[in-house]
Amino acid sequence: MEHVHQPCPIEMLELDPFKKVSKEWMTINAGNEEKANTMTASWGGFGTIWERSVCFVFVRESRYTKEFLDREKGFSLTFFDPKDKQILKYFGSVSGRDEDKVKNAKMHFSFHKGIPYVNEASMVLICKKLAVVPMGKETIRVPLIDQMFYEKGDYHTMYIGEITNVMAR
Ligand SMILES: Cc1cc2nc3c(=O)[nH]c(=O)nc-3n(C[C@H](O)[C@H](O)[C@H](O)COP(=O)(O)O)c2cc1C
Repeated sequence: MEHVHQPCPIEMLELDPFKKVSKEWMTINAGNEEKANTMTASWGGFGTIWERSVCFVFVRESRYTKEFLDREKGFSLTFFDPKDKQILKYFGSVSGRDEDKVKNAKMHFSFHKGIPYVNEASMVLICKKLAVVPMGKETIRVPLIDQMFYEKGDYHTMYIGEITNVMAR
């Protein structure tokens, strides 16, 4: 697959997580050149820890993507044009266990040092996995949140990724 993205200094990023992640959504991509998977995410953010620029994303135990995230040393986040929102709905409602989502969407995986990203994305963040933080009943301090979001026990794990490369079209 042709590389169509250009590297972009992280300082140039204008990223409002409340808009870019919560409203416009992103995909989390993980795996290797043999097999990769993608899923839509609208929870997460960006910031600084351990003198590094990081993202943090939240992935429920049941997601197929989680298996790839746990296995590999890195992952990527991809952001799309508003016209691709239907595809993000599809990536967020069907599991890669059942369908080859990227192929069905007529999109393609490209790889940066073995880390998959969706080539059709407008912006790509390549991330090195720094920390994996599982959540459980004991982590949640507000019983209402536990009731509202984890009735079936399908808790999120937080992944903190160092943003090592930013690429944009
Ligand atoms: C708009 C939207 C946002 C989502 N955000 C998240 C999220 O932040 N974390 C999560 O675990 N699942 C989230 N999901 C659900 C997953 O994308 C969905 O379960 C997906 O089918 C998982 O695919 P997989 O089994 O191939 O990994 C979201 C779904 C949609 C439609």
